[in-house]
Amino acid sequence: MLKNKHIVLGISGGIAAYKSATLVRLLVKRGAEVQVVMTPSGREFITPVTLSALTGKPVITEFFTANTGQWNSHVDLGLWADAMVIAPATACTIAKMATGVADNMLVTTYLSAKAPVFVAPAMDLDMIAHPSTVRNLRTLRSYGNHIIKPAEGELASHLIGKGRMEEPEEIVRVLERFFSSASDLKGKKVMITAGPTYERIDPVRFIGNFSSGKMGYALADEAAARGAEVTLVSGPVSITPSQPGVKVLNVESAREMHDTCQNLFPDTDIAIMCAAVADYAPAQVATHKIKRENQEVPVIELVKNPDIAASLGKIKRHGQMLVGFALETDNEQANAEDKIRRKNLDMIVLNSLRNPGTCFGTDRNKVSIITLDGACTEYPDKSKTEVAHDIIDAIVSRINK
Ligand code: CTP
Repeated sequence: MLKNKHIVLGISGGIAAYKSATLVRLLVKRGAEVQVVMTPSGREFITPVTLSALTGKPVITEFFTANTGQWNSHVDLGLWADAMVIAPATACTIAKMATGVADNMLVTTYLSAKAPVFVAPAMDLDMIAHPSTVRNLRTLRSYGNHIIKPAEGELASHLIGKGRMEEPEEIVRVLERFFSSASDLKGKKVMITAGPTYERIDPVRFIGNFSSGKMGYALADEAAARGAEVTLVSGPVSITPSQPGVKVLNVESAREMHDTCQNLFPDTDIAIMCAAVADYAPAQVATHKIKRENQEVPVIELVKNPDIAASLGKIKRHGQMLVGFALETDNEQANAEDKIRRKNLDMIVLNSLRNPGTCFGTDRNKVSIITLDGACTEYPDKSKTEVAHDIIDAIVSRINK
């Protein structure tokens, strides 16, 4: 799984740096090429000589190699990497990563990295529990970084608690699991709807909703990272996908989204309907701006928009998978189960507006996934990137059934 993978290993200055030698050994044994980048204080805990002997590559710690004047390019390194692992990640390095303080080679490389990033925190129990560390780790999660949770045990301070860097064997397992899932959608065509739709009233006004598109874009990135050919049918949003392979088709209204999806669906293996589609549109779109002085309070007559998910459910073939979302305020599960049947879905992702701090506009979501056979899995409150991972996992396990 790790054979020929390019791993940039960032080592910051914590006592757990002594475990980095074992980590390098395990990675190299599995056929990975490892390039170590250290912070200046990392060097105080383990010598670059040990690490360069194990990796067969000079360790990078400075922007320039002092005796030759050679510039160490963080950009090249960021592009070379198939994964960047920061182990140990101290509170200081995590804070710099969260806020973009690029004053050393490790953080600069992190900011340039296009590959997935894995962070293995290591610090004392009070430091890991401090609100600033909690917030910084949450920020890293929202960037899509994978946090390898620290373990419990005896710490360098001799206190017992949470904060120990995860063992090298477990870090390697996390990477292996990641790379094995990295191709589990290879050959699959995935269509995802995202964002709101805008239904025009006149040339300057529309009916819309608060959807930011973040959940749909996170799903598109996750599916693309796992090898799928992804088309994102997106309503008006102000974000872009992070994965370079995602094709975006921009639409404005529910009608446009419907027509685009109808065209794409016959050539799609998995459709995920994540958009917050407006259920109604004005019956007439005024060609000129509706003026305040000209009339009484206007009454806007509405007509029903097409139900995109239901219309795809009607033409779904054997082997195609249709996944919906349900946003509910009450009777959540019963309503979601009803939507599975009405729209001929295979799976529905239920989120409730009752969970504060999740859903519209935020980076977090708390969902349950309900399948056609009635099985319901509840997930804890997570970042939308992690939720996307869970949803794609659920889809993959259903495909492989
Ligand atoms: N959906 C759709 N087209 C619509 C409305 C909804 O494709 N015109 C999709 C959504 O993308 C989502 C699912 O249907 O995957 C459920 O959306 P939701 O708004 O929860 O349900 P509605 O069918 O609109 O029902 P209600 O608003 O009454 O809850």
